[in-house]
Amino acid sequence: MNKPLIIAMDFKDRTAAESFLDSLDSFTGTPLFLKVGMELFYREGPSLVEAWKEKGHRIFLDLKLHDIPSTVQSAARQLAALNVDLITVHAAGGIRMMEAAREGLETGTPAADSVPDCVAVTQLTSTTEKMMQEELGIPAGLEETVIHYAVNAKQAGLQGIVCSALEAPAIKEHAGRNMKAVTPGIRMKEQDRNDQKRVVTPAKARNLGSDAIVVGRSITSAEQPWQTYQDMMKQWRGKQ
Ligand code: C5P
Repeated sequence: MNKPLIIAMDFKDRTAAESFLDSLDSFTGTPLFLKVGMELFYREGPSLVEAWKEKGHRIFLDLKLHDIPSTVQSAARQLAALNVDLITVHAAGGIRMMEAAREGLETGTPAADSVPDCVAVTQLTSTTEKMMQEELGIPAGLEETVIHYAVNAKQAGLQGIVCSALEAPAIKEHAGRNMKAVTPGIRMKEQDRNDQKRVVTPAKARNLGSDAIVVGRSITSAEQPWQTYQDMMKQWRGKQ
């Protein structure tokens, strides 16, 4: 993972997603790193991923796998065969389930390709500490739980976790510097939050130690998406 800026392709279908990509392509033709989530994947399926890989884009397939280990292993094997670059699993599935995801990715990757990276989702940002303790019955604090899950993910051999850039320093302190922090919640200005509770700029994410930033609406809804992508890239790479 070479410090990418990943664009979250949160579109309802392939037509909408590709009309956005076409508007960028007219400026570049540059291969991008695209996050495909449940909405788009459940609608369009593997053929969308295959088509975008064919065009040279890297794919973060964010399906947040969470099931018994053998089912997750088989699912991961299928995703590896699609030659995606990065997938997600829920750390709440436990260490054995995360190991099974790795094993599935390793066995499912065609000989000529590299094994996709796998990162764990810890507590969803929609989960508050009160909800986690009272509804889910997890008595620890939220940050403590996130760190605990990150350490589990490391033990399972995953490459990193999805977290806020603000959590990246604590994750690295406890789970080690090599645990990658893939961080959404990125905005050009900290006041542009939409429904995100806590946001940081690309420059701040870099300073906090993020390894990859995930940017959705700031780029996909921008009046000049290509210019915004470039501006964010410059900040992220530390050239501004
Ligand atoms: O549009 P925005 O930049 O807020 O999109 C961020 C992307 O990252 C969305 O696809 C969202 O689902 C995802 N995400 C997030 N927070 C998490 C995990 C994923 O915002 N904790």
